[in-house]
Amino acid sequence: MSIDAVVLAAGRGTRFGGDAPKQYLPLDGSTVLARALDAFLAHAAIRRVVAVIGAGDEGAFRAAVGPRADRVEVVTGGDTRQASVAAALAHLAVDPPERVLVHDGARPFLSAALIDRVARALDDADAVIPAVPVADTLKRIDHGRVAGTVPRDGLAQAQTPQGFRFAALRAAHAAMPGGATDDAMVMEAAGHPVRVVEGERTNHKITTPDDLPAARLTYPAVGKGF
Ligand code: CTP
Ligand code: MG
Repeated sequence: MSIDAVVLAAGRGTRFGGDAPKQYLPLDGSTVLARALDAFLAHAAIRRVVAVIGAGDEGAFRAAVGPRADRVEVVTGGDTRQASVAAALAHLAVDPPERVLVHDGARPFLSAALIDRVARALDDADAVIPAVPVADTLKRIDHGRVAGTVPRDGLAQAQTPQGFRFAALRAAHAAMPGGATDDAMVMEAAGHPVRVVEGERTNHKITTPDDLPAARLTYPAVGKGF
């Protein structure tokens, strides 16, 4: 039974801003993307690791990941997250794995235990996501005023890595054009049930600049060594 990993790094980081996409930024002696890749490169259950990068980003990628570049397969992404995933799936389809884990390169703090939890849940599911219950009270805002409170019962934040039976995910992507912001959406649209396992509150996605210093303060030991 083979498990491959796809780490997405073809986004432009428009909400973060700045010169370089957020996945290439330094993080405690390493970089955001290098940390995300390391989780999969260091995991014994993972066969191949594919990094999806933007056209023309080869130099930034090599600079950000150093010698890891020789241990990952690089694929050029697309204009949307979904197109970037589809490019990686087409690449893997030449020698398809049984299972694939798809991870945001902008999430550097995942643990080996989370990878295990997602991969193992695929024993009896086609699609698995890690999620954490919404902790804050949710408000609907209209023109700077509270227009209502959204009951948070049953609401959760979806994380990555998300795990799939490869053949099912590939077929679902082929059937759904468009702008899914995660792969579970693609599977939901194809009618597959999606299993939920416990996510990690520490598994933040770097989205805006305040995510990065906050992450550094909370996890000072992260990223030692390259
Ligand atoms: N991603 C990708 N290809 C795209 C868009 C996004 O590979 N065309 C990746 C990003 O690199 C990131 C993950 O998908 O690792 C989650 O996307 P997001 O957090 O939205 O990152 P960006 O799209 O880069 O940021 P923004 O939406 O602010 O531009
Ligand atoms: Mg985006």
